[in-house]
Amino acid sequence: MKQTQKTDDIKIQEKLKKKGNIPRHIAIIMDGNGRWARQMGLPRVAGHSEGVKSVRDVVEACAQLGVENLTLFAFSTENWRRPEDEVSTLMKLLIKTLKRETDELHKNNIRLQAIGDIISLPTEVQKYLSDAIEKTKNNSRMNLILALSYSGRWDIINATKIIANKVREGLLKPDEINDKIFSQHLSTANLPEPDLLIRTSGEMRISNFLIWEIAYSELYITNTLWPDFRRKDLYKAIEDYQRRERRFGLVSEQIKKSNIVGKNAYIKFSKIK
Ligand code: IPE
Ligand code: IPE
Ligand code: MG
Repeated sequence: MKQTQKTDDIKIQEKLKKKGNIPRHIAIIMDGNGRWARQMGLPRVAGHSEGVKSVRDVVEACAQLGVENLTLFAFSTENWRRPEDEVSTLMKLLIKTLKRETDELHKNNIRLQAIGDIISLPTEVQKYLSDAIEKTKNNSRMNLILALSYSGRWDIINATKIIANKVREGLLKPDEINDKIFSQHLSTANLPEPDLLIRTSGEMRISNFLIWEIAYSELYITNTLWPDFRRKDLYKAIEDYQRRERRFGLVSEQIKKSNIVGKNAYIKFSKIK
């Protein structure tokens, strides 16, 4: 980045921070790599590679802004059904990226985590992934969560099985199951719910991403394809988010009176009578 661009970048970041309600958790459905490649007359894999550059830029900008958690949908349960060569290329790209970027993440005090059916990934991916997770586990600036072989329904079924077993063993009573208990059995148990969900490439759907957790997330869908999505697009999404009023089922007056924005807003508002 040129010096003038850097100064402009810092200015935009300062402006967003000043507003006070930077999303605590941003989740992104990174879509449109294939279409980007087709537009450029390139094979689909070129779109995935270019998409890694967007990941790098967005991760860096989120960390600078003070976003605490960034969850990226990188590979869905359903994506296994794509042609074999695309799946294997994606896995190779994942290995290459983990090899190349782990040190940089660590230097920037970013903690890597993963959600999804990790044991279904090739062993080599699992190895680099667990090494990166282990290496960065004490970092505290931002959590970067990769959703890999992940789907919301997979996670809900998984949680249900764990809960059912606890009930069978007498550790939990059916009547004790509530939102909170259920959430604690999902792979996102330790994360706040996403404040902002971004989807690139203009598709108006969720595609099985975090279906439980996004109950009250603000949605931002842009036509920009993921390989074209860079920090300036992220700033636009956050700006849009900051202008919204999150009501959590209440009326505007209750929200204004309570003066609570951002942190744990959902939990606090759900207690307001
Ligand atoms: C998103 O881009 C990346 C993954 C799902 C792995 P796509 O590969 O879905 O790109 P489009 O939707 O075909 O353009
Ligand atoms: C969602 O994109 C999954 C990821 C971004 C990893 P898809 O391209 O798989 O979603 P659909 O098929 O358009 O719904
Ligand atoms: Mg797609």
